[in-house]
Amino acid sequence: MDLFSEIEEPEREELKRLRKELEEANYKYYVLNQPTISDREFDEKMHRLQALEAMYPDMFDASSPTQHVGSDLAVTGYGLRVTGNKFETVKHKYPMLSLANSYSREEIEDWVRKLPSGAEIVCELKFDGLSISLWYEHGVLVRALTRGDGQQGDDVIANIKTIKSIPWKIERTDVPEFFELRGEVLLPWTRFEALNKEREEQEEALFANPRNAASGTLKLQDPKEVARRGLEAYLYYMLGENLPGKTHFERLETAKSWGFHISDAIKVCHSVDEVMNYIAYWDTERKNLPVATDGIVLKVNDLAQQEELGYTAKTPRWAIAYKFPAEKQLTLLKEITYQVGRTGVVTPVANLEPVQLSGTMVQRATLHNEDFIKSLDIRPGDKVWVEKGGEIIPKITGKEVTGDGLQVTDFQFITHCPECGAKLVREEGEAAWRCPNEAGCPPQIKGKIEHFVSRKAMNIDGMGEETIDLFYQKGLLKNIADIYDLKLEDIAAQERLGEKSAQNILDGIEASKQVPWARVLFALGIRMVGETTAKKIARKYNTIDSLQWATVEQLCAIEDVGPQIAENIVKYFEDIRNLEILDRLRKADLQMEGEAEASPTSDKLAGMSIVISGTFAHHSRDEYKALIETNGGKNVGSVSKKTSFILAGENMGPEKRKKAEDLGVKLMSEEEFLEMIE
Ligand code: IVH
Repeated sequence: MDLFSEIEEPEREELKRLRKELEEANYKYYVLNQPTISDREFDEKMHRLQALEAMYPDMFDASSPTQHVGSDLAVTGYGLRVTGNKFETVKHKYPMLSLANSYSREEIEDWVRKLPSGAEIVCELKFDGLSISLWYEHGVLVRALTRGDGQQGDDVIANIKTIKSIPWKIERTDVPEFFELRGEVLLPWTRFEALNKEREEQEEALFANPRNAASGTLKLQDPKEVARRGLEAYLYYMLGENLPGKTHFERLETAKSWGFHISDAIKVCHSVDEVMNYIAYWDTERKNLPVATDGIVLKVNDLAQQEELGYTAKTPRWAIAYKFPAEKQLTLLKEITYQVGRTGVVTPVANLEPVQLSGTMVQRATLHNEDFIKSLDIRPGDKVWVEKGGEIIPKITGKEVTGDGLQVTDFQFITHCPECGAKLVREEGEAAWRCPNEAGCPPQIKGKIEHFVSRKAMNIDGMGEETIDLFYQKGLLKNIADIYDLKLEDIAAQERLGEKSAQNILDGIEASKQVPWARVLFALGIRMVGETTAKKIARKYNTIDSLQWATVEQLCAIEDVGPQIAENIVKYFEDIRNLEILDRLRKADLQMEGEAEASPTSDKLAGMSIVISGTFAHHSRDEYKALIETNGGKNVGSVSKKTSFILAGENMGPEKRKKAEDLGVKLMSEEEFLEMIE
C-alpha cells in the first residue's frame, strides 16, 4: 500500500460508515417514525458525506443517501420491512423531492446569489408533518400518495378523505383535466395532546411529536380511527400540464379559489432583508399556530425561472428551507420528585426553575428512570439544559459543568414508595423501580380503576379521574369489582353529583356488562397485556377459566406473547386477591367468555410450519394466516430447518430468501398455495 492510499483509507471508511448511518436514520425517521438523530445532525452528516463523495468520485454509488430522498415505503433499500402494508404503491407522475436546508442568513444569501438577479422569492411556513400528493381528474380526487421513496408512494386516499378541508370533488367547470396538489398532512397540537393523553392512559407508547403521530395515523388501515384522530392538511404546490398562472403565488391563489386549504402566511419578497424579517416574525408568531412548523420555505416565484434553475438529484434549485433553531434553555434543577403510575412504576420528575421554551413555560420534565439520571450525572442544584425535542415534550439533555466541586455525593434514587411507603423493587433487566404494593398503594388502585373504565376497556361514561378519586376517598371504590356494587343513593349523595349524573354512571356500568371478553381481559390491567395482546389471548383462550390454568409455555405459543407477558398473566392468577375480584366480576355478569376460535376446516396443511413473507395480490397477510390455520397448519415467524415452505409474495426480504436457500426451504407463490388448499 503506498503512502497516499494509507491517508485515504480512513476517509473511505468514514464515507461508507456515513452512508450506512444516514440510511439507517432515514429508515428510523420515515418508516418507524422514531427519529434517533436531530435534523441538524442529519444535515451535518449528509454534508460531510457529500464532501467525501466529491473527493472520491470512484466511490460513486447511485443508491447512496446523497442520491435519493428518505423513504416511507414499507420495504426500504435496506431490505427491512414493516408488515401489514395493504396500501397500493403507485408511481409518482412527478418525483417527490426534498428541500435543501439552511440555518443562517449567510446560507440564504449564498442561495439567492445563484438565482437570476431580481428574482421574486415567495416565503411560506414549513409545516412539520408529512407530504402528500393529491391527484385530481376532472375535478375529482382520485389518488392521495405519500412521498414514499420519492419515485413511488402509497395510496392512502381512504385516510386522506377523512380530512375535512380536502375537497373530494371541485364543483367548477374551469378546472384542468388533471392537476396535482402537494401539501403537508398534520395532526394539530390539541389533537396530538389528546391522543397522547389517551395513549398514556392505555399504557401505549407515546408519540414524540405531532409529525410522528400524523405519520402513524396516516398509515393506519382503519379510516374510522383516522377520522377520530382529526388530521389536517395545508397545501403548498400545484403541478400539472396547462395550468393557469405564471407564478407560484398565482397558482396558490387559484387553488385557494377552488376551495383548497392554503396558508395565509404566504408573502412575496424582493430582498434578503425582507426574507429575514419574515423569518423573525414567524419564529415568534408560529407559537400561536394550531399546527407544528419547523422553518420557512423560500421558493422562486416565477415558474419560467423555476424551470430554468431545475433540480439536483434530490432537491429543486429553485427552493430552499430555512430551519428554526431548536430551542434550548439553561435552568436550575430545583428538586426531583417521584410519580407512581397504575402499574406501580415510579417515574422521577425534574422540577425546574420555570423557563420560557418554544412559547410555553416549562417547569417539569420527565427523567424517565434511575439510569437516565445517572447517565446525565445530574442532581438537584445543577444547572441543566432543557430542550423541546421535536418541539414538544421538554427533555433534559445535559448539565452545565460549573466546576465548583461542591457536589460530591452521588445521586440516590428513593428506596420507598412516596405514596404508600412500601419498599421499592427493581427487577433484573428492568429500568424501572416499582412499588410492589399493588392492592394498597392509592395511585395504583385509582389508576387500575381509571384504566378499567376507560374507553377502550369497559367504556363506562361519567367516571373520570376526579369522580374516581372522590369515590376512593369516600371508601366507595377500593378495587374494580366495587364498581358493580355502587348504588344510586351512594353516588347521588356525593357533592357535585346529582341524581341525573348518578343514573348516567349506573347506566354506563350496566352497559359495560355487554363488553366482549377480549376487552374485559384488557380492562383487568394485567401488566403488559395491552389491547392487541388481550385480543390475541382471548382468541386462544375463550373463557377466563381456561386462561386461569394456562402455563407460561402454553401462553408463549400465542403470537406476540413473550415469557415476560406470560409470567405476568400466570402471576396475576396466582394472587388470591385477583381471584376474589374475578369471582365478583363473574357474579356481576361480565362477559368472561368469548367465541371459540374456528377449528380447522381441513387438514391439508396439518403438521406444517409455514412462513409468510412479502406482499400479496389476492389476500392480505392476515387472511393468509387465517387460511393456514383453518387448514390445520401453523404460521411461524422465522425460517428454520423445520419450516415446511415459505409462502412468498413480492419483495420478499433478501435475508429470508438467503436463509431459505441455505436451508433448502421451498418458496411457494400465492397462486400455488391457493391451488394447494383449494
Ligand atoms: S415545497 C419540491 N413547501 O418539507 C419541493 N414543502 O424538507 C416541494 N414542507 O418534503 C416542497 N412545508 O414535506 C414545500 N410550504 C412548504 C412546505 C414543504 C413543509 C415539507 C415537504 C417537503 C419537506 C422538505
